[in-house]
Amino acid sequence: MISIQKVSKSYGNGVKAVDGISLEVSPGEIFGFIGPNGAGKTTTIKMITGILHPDEGTILVDGKDIVKEPIEAKLRFGFVPDDPNLFPRLKGIEYLNWIGDLYGVDQTTRRERIVALSERFGLAKAMPDRIQSYSHGMRQKLVLLGALLHEPPVWILDEPMTGLDPRSSFELKEMMRQHADKGHTVFFSTHVLDVAEKVCDRVAIIDKGRILFCGSIDQMREHFASAGSSLESMFLELTSDENGNGGLSPDAAK
Ligand SMILES: Nc1ncnc2c1ncn2[C@@H]1O[C@H](COP(=O)(O)OP(=O)(O)OP(=O)(O)O)[C@@H](O)[C@H]1O
Ligand SMILES: [Mg+2]
Repeated sequence: MISIQKVSKSYGNGVKAVDGISLEVSPGEIFGFIGPNGAGKTTTIKMITGILHPDEGTILVDGKDIVKEPIEAKLRFGFVPDDPNLFPRLKGIEYLNWIGDLYGVDQTTRRERIVALSERFGLAKAMPDRIQSYSHGMRQKLVLLGALLHEPPVWILDEPMTGLDPRSSFELKEMMRQHADKGHTVFFSTHVLDVAEKVCDRVAIIDKGRILFCGSIDQMREHFASAGSSLESMFLELTSDENGNGGLSPDAAK
């Protein structure tokens, strides 16, 4: 589970990126964090994963406070950032072995998982190659493999489908469902509304650092019935300014 209580964060330039948000993500659910560009999604995810500290509020990951017990908390989640930053001179397999060492995954288990995951994502053949020869999507898959290697109960993924080909995107969605069905937690950000609509048990919509809605897709439909039946039209309604101008065009959401 992930518990976010009254969390705020401002940057040095005075931008209040996250403004007093509270969220509870339960075991067994896929939770979608949606919002337009600059809404505060990545800032929130950076606080959940301990990259940034909140100015106010507390965050628990699987019951562990990310600020007070960072190592305990970090062992419990796998994280895929929006901008995978890798060591280009390492080979794919070397990177995964390094992650395996970091998280104390024994050799036999590690080998089995690397084979299974790399085959599932079509990355097996590239394992002996240096990361500098990888495409953007291949790098993203490698980070994903690394994040899942220690089989963490909580997955935290920032825009995970961006850059993945349709097959890999499908595999990831399947894996997210299976992970949640085992009683684990998946928290991911997206502005691809179709994805949120198809895979999420619950969603939160964030805009200008504040949560505008939190609940199931059905609850959203009920709540915003007047905006039409698609999540996209509800999203446009929710994030529009006082003049009715949408925060995001339907094309920009793709
Ligand atoms: N390092 C930083 N320094 C100053 N301001 C920042 C920094 N990072 C983000 N911001 C600002 O904080 C706000 C929230 O940014 P954030 O990256 O959390 O949004 P996001 O929802 O992830 O957007 P996107 O969909 O584009 O990834 C924006 O106004 C952004 O300009
Ligand atoms: Mg972001």
